[in-house]
Amino acid sequence: MKVTQAELIISAVDPRQYPEDALPEIALAGRSNVGKSSLINRMIHRKNLARTSSKPGKTQTINFYRINGVLTFADMPGYGFAKVSKAVRAAWGRMSEQYLTQRHNLAGILQVIDLRHPPTKDDIAMYEWLKHLGIPVIVAATKADKITRGQWPKHKKQVKEGLQMEPKDPLILFSSQTGQGKEELWSEIGRLISD
Ligand code: GTP
Ligand code: MG
Repeated sequence: MKVTQAELIISAVDPRQYPEDALPEIALAGRSNVGKSSLINRMIHRKNLARTSSKPGKTQTINFYRINGVLTFADMPGYGFAKVSKAVRAAWGRMSEQYLTQRHNLAGILQVIDLRHPPTKDDIAMYEWLKHLGIPVIVAATKADKITRGQWPKHKKQVKEGLQMEPKDPLILFSSQTGQGKEELWSEIGRLISD
C-alpha cells in the first residue's frame, strides 16, 4: 500500500475514547520495547509519528493512527515490562482486555516478537489468548537486522515453535531499520482487512 496520509486520531485509555468510525483496525501487541511503534513508523514511512524510545514502557495508552482514511493501526502498550508497578500492570491488563474483547472493527492483531530471542512466557500467553478469542493473528518477528541472514531460518523456527503457531498464520521477518518485510506485511494486512 502506498501511504499518503497518516495521522494520530487519539490516545485512549478508555473504550469511550476509541474512534467511532468503523474502519478496519489492526492492533499491535508485543513485549515492551520490542519495536511496535517503530514498525508502524516504517510501515507508513514517518520517522516518529508513533513515538518510540530506547526505554521500555514508552507507549502507555492505545494510540489510534488512521492510514489513508481506509484503516486504523492501534498501537498498544507493551506487555512484560518487569519494572512497572502492579497498578500499571493491572491497568495494562484491563485496557488490553477491554480492547481485545470489545472492539468490533478489529480485523486482526499484529503480534510483534523479537526475532533474536525465543518467545517469552508473555508472548506465548498473548498468542494463546488471541487464539482463544478467535482473533486473526499475523506474527512479525522484528529486529531482523540484528542477526545475520544465515541465522534467520533457525530463529524463524524458534519463533514458530515457541509460540506453537498454527501453520496458516503468517510469520514475517521484519526490520524497522532496513524496511525488510514491509511489502509482505502490507500484503498480509490487506488480506485481513478485505476479509
Ligand atoms: P513500548 O512502547 O515501550 O511498548 O515499546 P515499542 O514496542 O513501541 O518499541 P519502540 O518502537 O519504541 O522501539 C524500542 C527500541 O528498539 C528503540 O530504541 C528502537 O530504535 C529499537 N528498534 C525497534 N525496531 C528495531 C529494528 O527493527 N531494528 C533495530 N536495530 N532496532 C529497532
Ligand atoms: Mg511503543
